[in-house]
Amino acid sequence: MSARLPTAAAAELRAHAVAAGLKLEPTVAITYGTYDLFHIGHVNLFRRIKARYDILVVAVSTDEFNAGKGKRSAVPFADRIEMVRACRHVDLAIAESGWGQKETDIVRYGADAMVMGSDWTGHFDGLKSLCDVVYLPRTEGVSSSDLKRHIQSAG
Ligand code: CTP
Repeated sequence: MSARLPTAAAAELRAHAVAAGLKLEPTVAITYGTYDLFHIGHVNLFRRIKARYDILVVAVSTDEFNAGKGKRSAVPFADRIEMVRACRHVDLAIAESGWGQKETDIVRYGADAMVMGSDWTGHFDGLKSLCDVVYLPRTEGVSSSDLKRHIQSAG
């Protein structure tokens, strides 16, 4: 709502928007991942999220959090989050450093939706009491694991 509108007109417009079922606040989506060897599948996911929601928050798992899950990335956390942050579809990049953070983040950022790629379908349905949980199509034929295998086999 523009601050330049006269108060009465702003109120009238707001009432009209509400009656029409329009949202007055920007919508917020949050998504989680490691984003190792940042690739086109990650960019496509961010683009698809931004086509549906106004603001995208991306939580990037820290090296310590990944180690606890037995995962080790090729690219260190500081670089992974910087590359995510540099993507034009991303409004805010934050660290994911522990279990249970998703619930806190959803509330803290007022997320309307938690969005993941379709390989995670059903996995986060427990968050549905807090916000929408949406799984978008995964980009076929590319993954961080595939890239690592490819690089290793290339010697
Ligand atoms: N993603 C996607 N399309 C791909 C690869 C990943 O949409 N081709 C999505 C995942 O579904 C997830 C997010 O990107 O929501 C972050 O995934 P991440 O695990 O960091 O990337 P992957 O390439 O899947 O890594 P890995 O091979 O280690 O599982």
